[in-house]
Amino acid sequence: MKLPEPYFALPGEGDLALALLQPHHADVVFALVDANRERLERWLPWPALMKSADDERKAIRQLNIEMAQHGAICCAVIVEGDVVGGIGMNAVNVDARSCDIGYWLIVEAEGRGYMTRSVQLVLGYVFGPLGFNRVTIHADPANVRSCRVPERLGFRKVGVMQQACALTASRAVDVAMYELLACDWRQKEVAA
Ligand SMILES: CC(C)(COP(=O)(O)OP(=O)(O)OC[C@H]1O[C@@H](n2cnc3c(N)ncnc32)[C@H](O)[C@@H]1OP(=O)(O)O)[C@@H](O)C(=O)NCCC(=O)NCCS
Repeated sequence: MKLPEPYFALPGEGDLALALLQPHHADVVFALVDANRERLERWLPWPALMKSADDERKAIRQLNIEMAQHGAICCAVIVEGDVVGGIGMNAVNVDARSCDIGYWLIVEAEGRGYMTRSVQLVLGYVFGPLGFNRVTIHADPANVRSCRVPERLGFRKVGVMQQACALTASRAVDVAMYELLACDWRQKEVAA
C-alpha cells in the first residue's frame, strides 16, 4: 500500500527510505497492522491497543509530540513508496543520550534485509545529528528474527530479563537486551 503524500523521508540506499509518520498516514498503517495482527501481537504489546485507524492516528499524534520534545522519530519503512513496516525510537532519555529502537515488517517484506537497513539509517541519525551515546534493542529471545537484527549490526547482548514484557494482562515474556555505543558505531563506520 502506498504511503499517502506528502511525506518527509530519509533516503536509504536503493529503493528503501524511512518516512516520518503523520496523522494522514493512519489509515494505511492501521490497515497493514490489522492484516498482520496475529504475528505482531505474538511479540509486541502495542498492536492490541490499535483497534481502529483513529487509535493509530492518536498514537501518531502522540509520537509527533515526542519528536518535537526530544527529536525522537517514528517512521514508516517504505520501499518504492509502498509501506512495508515501521520503525521508531522509544524510551528516549535526552540526559543519558540514550534510546531504544522498535520495529516491525509486514510478512511479505521479511527476509530481504529491509529492517537491518532501516535500523542502520536510524542509528546514523541517532549517533549523528542527534548526538546520542547509547542505543538498545529489546526482543524476546524466542523471537529469533528480531534478535538477529541487532546481532547482525554488531550490538552486544547484555543479558535476558525474565518476564520483563507484559504482552497481555496474563502473559509476560522474557526480554533480551542488546546495546550499541556511539564509539562501537564509529569504529564500525571507519572499518567499513
Ligand atoms: C523482527 C522483523 C522485523 C525481522 O525481519 P527480517 O526480515 O528477519 O529482518 P531483515 O529485514 O533485516 O532481513 C534479514 C534477512 O534478509 C536477508 N538479507 C537480504 N539482504 C540483506 C541485506 N542487505 N542486509 C541484511 N540482511 C539481508 C538476511 O540474510 C536475512 O535473511 P534470513 O531471514 O534468511 O536470516 C520481522 O520478523 C517482524 O516484523 N516480526 C514481527 C514483529 C516483531 O517481532 N518485531 C520486533 C519485536 S522486538
